[in-house]
Amino acid sequence: MHRTHTCGELNISDLGKEVTLAGWVQKSRDLGGMTFIDVRDRYGITQLVFNMEEDAVIGDQARKLAREYVIKVQGKVVERSNKNAKIPTGDIEIKVSSLEILNSAKLPPFLIEDETDGGEDLRMKYRYLDLRRNPVRNNLVLRHKMAQEIRKYLDSQNFLEVETPVLIKSTPEGARDFVVPSRMNPGEFYALPQSPQTFKQLLMVSGFDRYFQIVKCFRDEDLRADRQPEFTQIDCEMAFIEQEDILNLFEGLIRSLFKSVKGIDLNEVPRMVYADAMRLYGSDKPDTRFGMEFVELNDVLKGAGFPVFDNAELVVGINAKGCAEYTRKQLDELTDFVKRPQIGATGLVYLRCNADGSLKSSVDKFYGEEQLKAWAAAFNAEPGDLILVMAGAADKARKQLNELRLEMGSRLGLRDKNQFAPLWVIDFPLLEWDEESGRYHAMHHPFTSPKPEDIALLDTKPGEVRANAYDLVINGTEIGGGSIRIHDRALQSLMFKHLGFTEEEAQKQFGFLLDAFEFGAPPHGGIAFGFDRLVSIFAGLDSIRDVIAFPKNNSGRDVMIDSPSTISEEQLKELSIKTVS
Ligand code: AMO
Repeated sequence: MHRTHTCGELNISDLGKEVTLAGWVQKSRDLGGMTFIDVRDRYGITQLVFNMEEDAVIGDQARKLAREYVIKVQGKVVERSNKNAKIPTGDIEIKVSSLEILNSAKLPPFLIEDETDGGEDLRMKYRYLDLRRNPVRNNLVLRHKMAQEIRKYLDSQNFLEVETPVLIKSTPEGARDFVVPSRMNPGEFYALPQSPQTFKQLLMVSGFDRYFQIVKCFRDEDLRADRQPEFTQIDCEMAFIEQEDILNLFEGLIRSLFKSVKGIDLNEVPRMVYADAMRLYGSDKPDTRFGMEFVELNDVLKGAGFPVFDNAELVVGINAKGCAEYTRKQLDELTDFVKRPQIGATGLVYLRCNADGSLKSSVDKFYGEEQLKAWAAAFNAEPGDLILVMAGAADKARKQLNELRLEMGSRLGLRDKNQFAPLWVIDFPLLEWDEESGRYHAMHHPFTSPKPEDIALLDTKPGEVRANAYDLVINGTEIGGGSIRIHDRALQSLMFKHLGFTEEEAQKQFGFLLDAFEFGAPPHGGIAFGFDRLVSIFAGLDSIRDVIAFPKNNSGRDVMIDSPSTISEEQLKELSIKTVS
């Protein structure tokens, strides 16, 4: 038998027991007469003690053990004289009577401790060693637990888990496809799914009624902290429902997850229409852990002869409460922050509401005392507040002020990782104008249903048509998105037409779906959550990489297995792929 117990379970109630443990050497201390070894496994750490005077042979063996050796020991559970209250096994140690080395180990390239000395690149190259560390392993334990709870909840709601294919044909979710050449069909390619969107809709046509899948999706897009080329969705679809049913059912999922995994009772998830999210926060995924809502100032600040405001489509600001004492240097830092190319603002205007009640702005020469008062009043500002104002084309100014708001939220400590502010953003626009291609794109995807009352606007003001589409946002991160779908062939064809597809193109790419709609498609809708993002929010982490066992780096590479990589001429030939020399 390799072990009778794990390294995390023995305690004072086990005194006197003869036990066998197996695990990795975490650390060893040779104190001359005594050698102490910490042995580690997934469950914890147990201290082993070797006494040279009592058994010099084993004592000698123990002295030769190095970090990460895999060992098996037999011995007796005894009480420690020097207790460690920080670990569950800290009251006991094992007096070892036999020691077997199951495998030796090279010196690891970085410390396998909670706090390691290994840089990101090194840890990614030796990811299997990084995964031995508690904080990394705990993230995967959390991920597992969440997956179990999700399955439990959805099963209790009558959802069926159905697997959909991975070798498919392109589904337009807005990113590029990863493609796989077909050997048996020279010159033809499969695409990896960006999501199982069309399949889950077809399952509704098949009468499955409530479907879910915890499923890998693939998107060839630029990577960020919250994006991986392959990631996991909790993908769901329901028939015979309305938007309200979906919002309620999946709010239930999120609440039950918070309760069972984190012991948190969430309040009802508030809802905000997209237009308000943009107006008040300049973002379709506002971080509502803090207020600092936008105040529009066109009526207050335009027309005073300050050209930057006078020429702007929108003058808009936020109130950074209690920041009136910011120094010149701090204000310059904020100005530099908004001027960074990623944000691209031309400048930042401020109004200090001093503690003595006086008002001082950076554009005082254009505004008299009364105007400054009106400016402060627009924010209900109090002495001690600092008003920050940006101006320009409305969309741009909002986006830039959103960045500044988030930065101020961080500086003021208002973005606590242990606080959770979920939010439904609803009533998204159906279409989005794309400057590059000079036409409208589906904001969510082409299968999303317009609001019936807005269909008439499709021909006249397509940009104003709202969709039955919704996102779940938590702490400023888009965690999930979905919509009520079109289930009528004629409306789906009309939609493709508005998206610039010819009838032939639509038929070629989506004929299977259009055809299916003619065989009794029920009204349906659904949602997909980014599982990696959800886990990382629960874990309080900034990057989804930390909750993925074997993630890719920012260039989309797996540096451990060294992929992507070239393939042999022979393979290329077999796949009928010509190399570009
Ligand atoms: P959407 O494209 O909004 O919707 O994706 C759903 C959720 O998946 C997560 N997500 C990602 N997570 C990590 N890395 C990525 N590259 C990545 N891309 C997306 C986000 C997002 O909210 N088929 C529709 C869903 C539906 O309509 O039912 C879809 O895929 O958290």
